Amino acid sequence: MRVLVTGGAGFIGANLLYLLARNHPEDTLVTLDALTYAGHRESVRPLEDSGRLEFHHGDIRSRETVEPLVRAADAVVHLAAESHVDRSIADAIPFLETNVLGTGVLLEAARRADLKRFHLVSTDEVLGSLPLDRPDLKFTATSPYDPRSPYAASKAGADHLARAYFHTYGLPVTLSNCSNNFGPYHHPEKLIPLAVTNLLRGRKVPVYGDGKNVRDWIHVEDHCSALDLILRRGTPGETYLIGADQERTNNEVVRALLHILGKGAEWIEYVPDRLGHDRRYAIDARLIRETLGWRPRFEFEEALRQTVQWYSDHREWWMPLVRA
Ligand SMILES: NC(=O)c1ccc[n+]([C@@H]2O[C@H](COP(=O)([O-])OP(=O)(O)OC[C@H]3O[C@@H](n4cnc5c(N)ncnc54)[C@H](O)[C@@H]3O)[C@@H](O)[C@H]2O)c1
Repeated sequence: MRVLVTGGAGFIGANLLYLLARNHPEDTLVTLDALTYAGHRESVRPLEDSGRLEFHHGDIRSRETVEPLVRAADAVVHLAAESHVDRSIADAIPFLETNVLGTGVLLEAARRADLKRFHLVSTDEVLGSLPLDRPDLKFTATSPYDPRSPYAASKAGADHLARAYFHTYGLPVTLSNCSNNFGPYHHPEKLIPLAVTNLLRGRKVPVYGDGKNVRDWIHVEDHCSALDLILRRGTPGETYLIGADQERTNNEVVRALLHILGKGAEWIEYVPDRLGHDRRYAIDARLIRETLGWRPRFEFEEALRQTVQWYSDHREWWMPLVRA
C-alpha cells in the first residue's frame, strides 16, 4: 500500500511512521506536514535518509497540495492537527482552520480518489468529561459528543465530517478516539514531557488546580499498533475507542516522575486551573480488543521510566523547544 500519513512530523505521526516502516517493509510511506511549531522533520529524518519516507512540506488546507497526494495514495491516516488545549483556549481560530477545514479539504480530495481507507485519528476529549466519583463510567463509541474546549470541539467537527463522508459518499472511513498518549517525540508543552524536561533542567513542575484530574494514559506505540490494525482490518464506518486502562490523577503522574528522578514533592508547583478543565477521561476499549484482538504492551510506570530515559538521552531534540 501507498500510505499517506498527515502530520508525520508530530508526536504520534512520527511514532506511527516508525511502526509502519518496521511492520510493513512492502508499504510506501508518504507524509504531508506543515511543520508548525509542533512539527519536527528531524524526528523522522532517519526514515527519509534511508529512503523509507517521502516527506512533503505543505498544508492540509491547500487543495492543490492535498489532491495529488491523496489521488496517488491507497490509504490516508489523518493526524495533522492543532493539538494543544491551552492554545485553543487562547485562540480557537487556527484549530477551526486546520482541524475542521483542513479535514474537510482532505475528505473532499478523498471522495474523488480511489482510496481503500481513510482513517481519522481523533481524541476521547470529544466525549466530554466524566465525574470523579463514578469510576464505573467509561466512554464507549456510543457515548454522546460533549466537547468542552475549542480543541475538542474542532476535533468533534472533524469526526462528524468524516462520518458524513462515509454515509453520503460511501468513502471507506474509519475513526478512532484515543486517550492521552505519552512517549518519545512528545512536545514539551504537554504534561509528561513538560514535567520531565523541567525536572531535567532543575525547574519545578506546574500542576493545574488540585492535580486530581484523571487521564487514561497509553504509550504512543500502543496507540500506533491499534491504528495499524484498524487501517488493515477495521470495518468501514466503525469508530474504535483506544485506551490502555491506566487511569492516573495528574498528581500521581507527577509523583511517579519525581520518584523516577529521585526528587521530592517540593518540585511541584500548583498553578491556577485551566479554564473548563475536564475532570476525568476513561476509555472502554472492548470493541477493538474483541473484534481486532488489539492488546496494549506497555505498563504505565515502566513505560514512564523509559520515556524519562528517552528525554534524558535526547536533549538535542527538545532543548530548542523549551524557553530558556
Ligand atoms: N497526543 C495525544 O495524546 C492524542 C490523543 C488522541 C488523539 N490525538 C490526535 O492525534 C493527532 C496527532 O496528535 P499529536 O499529539 O501527534 O499532535 P502534534 O501537535 O504533536 O502534531 C501535529 C502535527 O500536525 C502538523 N500540522 C498542524 N497543522 C497542520 C496543517 N494545517 N497542515 C499540515 N500539517 C499540520 C504539525 O506540524 C505537527 O507535525 C491529532 O489529530 C490529535 O488530535 C492526540
